[in-house]
This record gives sequence, structure tokens and C-alpha cells, in this order.
Amino acid sequence: MGSTRNGSPLLLMILSAMFLLPLHVSSTSAERSTFIVHMDKSFMPKAFTTHHHWYSSIIDSIKSVESTSSNGHHSTPSLVYTYDHAFHGFSAVLSKDELESLKNSPGFVSSYSDRQATIDTTHTTDFLSLNPATGLWPASNYGKDVIVGVIDTGVWPESESFKDDGMTEIPSRWKGICEAGQEFNSSMCNLKLIGARSFNKGVVAANPNITFSMNSTRDTEGHGTHTSSTAAGNYVDGASFFGYAAGTARGVAPRARVAMYKVIWDQFRYASDVLAGMDQAVADGVDVISISMGFDQTPLYEDPIAIASFGAMENGVLVSSSAQQEIMVQSLDCCTMAFHGS
Ligand SMILES: *[C@@H]1O[C@H](CO)[C@@H](O)[C@H](O)[C@H]1NC(C)=O
Ligand SMILES: *[C@@H]1O[C@H](CO)[C@@H](O)[C@H](O)[C@H]1NC(C)=O
Ligand SMILES: *[C@@H]1O[C@H](CO)[C@@H](O)[C@H](O)[C@H]1NC(C)=O
Repeated sequence: MGSTRNGSPLLLMILSAMFLLPLHVSSTSAERSTFIVHMDKSFMPKAFTTHHHWYSSIIDSIKSVESTSSNGHHSTPSLVYTYDHAFHGFSAVLSKDELESLKNSPGFVSSYSDRQATIDTTHTTDFLSLNPATGLWPASNYGKDVIVGVIDTGVWPESESFKDDGMTEIPSRWKGICEAGQEFNSSMCNLKLIGARSFNKGVVAANPNITFSMNSTRDTEGHGTHTSSTAAGNYVDGASFFGYAAGTARGVAPRARVAMYKVIWDQFRYASDVLAGMDQAVADGVDVISISMGFDQTPLYEDPIAIASFGAMENGVLVSSSAQQEIMVQSLDCCTMAFHGS
């Protein structure tokens, strides 16, 4: 009896001692990690035809800066993505010294480390006081011809919510693609699910030996299938939850189109991939970006979603983003597209 009573404080002490041990971070200047770099494109010298050439040449020029060979995975600095739609800049695998020398390049605006997002979940249309029978919701024709780009874990294309019954021709302004990959081929898109792309160079840059459980836009997690069908799922008759709440399931905008941009890979959710998805969504011609994840405790000027959302808005794209409350784990998303295009 006594030993258990005495054992607990001892165990507690050992546990606290473990937590107090400083994390051993061996950070030599040659170690590289991914940084996101914002650039002012107006500084691009005339000699370069594209932003991609300009950024590549900047990376090449810092390669010549003294770079002691590292035992890490990246022996030279390298570009991960270049961005040109939601904002201007790139992500690159760099050492601290290389980042410092990059800061002297003309056009450099700001930089920060790549970081991981937390995923949020969805709430209802009640918050917006939408009435399914009158007002804005029916007036918007339930999202008819609005293209919703969803930035998430991918999509399960066989879900009934993505059948294209009742959908008409894809708007001609659409420039996206249906990317083939593991267990995903280009005929899995249709008049409802009009696009599917995936972005994982950021994950690979941070974890060079990674193998993905599903290396394609197919959703093995469920979050993206859930958020995209909540936003724009088609009408599915005869739905129920194990017999409860029987009825017709549908998204907020059942007549809208869905384009999925997969940027979350198992437990990995890097800002560089999120930004690549948002940048591509703007380039592809979505009307709305729906994003249900966040970079909590990040100041606005380093929050990739906030920065890319501002750029998307300047391109006429409405961004509907979830907001995680500090205390209650509740978030609101997916609801604004019913207003759009009405
Ligand atoms: C994922 O698939 C793409 C082609 O679809 C391929 O280029 C890439 O190397 C694959 N990545 C991994 C980590 O398997
Ligand atoms: C895509 O996959 C489906 C289901 O496996 C198959 O029926 C279809 O023929 C495939 N299409 C192409 C273009 O490979
Ligand atoms: C990654 O794979 C390479 C080649 O197979 C190996 O040399 C290296 O040690 C691996 N790195 C890690 C972190 O597992």
C-alpha cells in the first residue's frame, strides 16, 4: 500500500525531470530546412523572362556562398516551389547562412520557416442565419456555376456527394486539371468534381525518405471529403446516420463545382504545400477557396493562409477560412460560398 503512495510522487518527479530536459537541438549553420520567402516582383530584372528563372538564379547565386558540406539530406540549397498567383515568392531548402545572404537580394520582402498547420472541422449554416427556402441561399441558385477550390486532405471521388447528376457543362473559364496518381485517374473527375491536384514537395523537402500511404489526390483521412461535400456536395437521397436523421444530404452549395487541392499528407501539413495549393487554385480560376485548417499562434504577417488569402482576394477569389476559437474547439467554415455569384 505504502509503496504505491510513495511511488507516485517519485514517478511524477521523474516525469517532470524528463519534461524539463532541454531538447537537444544541434544546429550547425550548414543544416538546411525549408523557408518561405516573399518577394517584390517589381524588382525582377528585365533579363529574366519568368519569376521562376529569377528565383532559380537567386538560389544558384547563394549556392556559391561558402557552403560546408553537410551530412544532412540537402547538400545544396534548392527551390521547393515558386509562387506567382496568390502572392509572389518561393519556398526553398536553405541553411541559416544562405537565408542571411538571400536577404540581401533585391526584391526580398520577408521570410519565415515552413511550418505545419492544424486541421479544423466544420460547423453549420446556422451561424450565417441562412434560410434554405427564402433569401440569399435560394437566390444564389445554391451555388450554380461557382467553382469552389478546397485546400485539404484530398477527396474520395466515389462518394455519392460528387456524382454529377443535374450538373451542366463546366464553365469555360476553368483551367484546372484532374491529375492522375496512385488509385486516382483522370476519369474520376466529372461535372461536379471538376479538378484534383496534389502538392507534397514541402513534405518531401522536410522528410526526404518519406513514402506516402496514398500518393495522389485520393483522401485516406476523410477530412477533405467531409469539408468539400459540406461546402458543395450534390444532393444524395436516402442518406441517414445508421438509420437516424434520414433524409437528403447536400452541401451548402449543392450546385457548385468542386476542385480539390490535396496539401495534407497523413500527419504532415506544411505551409509550403498549402501555399502551392492556394496559388494553383487562383491560377486555375476558382471563385472561392475553402480552407479548414490554420496556423495557430502565428502572427498575421507570418500566417501563410492570411497572406495568400489577401492575394487571392486581390485576384477576385473569395476565401472562406475556418477560425479556431481559443477555448472552445469549434470552427466555422464552408458557409460563405452560398453568397458568392448571386
Ligand atoms: C508520388 O507520385 C509522383 C507521380 O505521381 C512521383 O513523381 C513521386 O515521386 C511520388 N512520390 C513519392 C514520395 O512516392
Ligand atoms: C480509371 O479507373 C476506373 C476505375 O478503376 C476505370 O474504370 C477507368 O477505366 C479508368 N480510366 C482510365 C482512363 O484509366
Ligand atoms: C534516406 O535514404 C538514404 C539512401 O537510402 C540514406 O542514406 C539516408 O540515411 C536516409 N535518411 C534518413 C533520415 O533515413
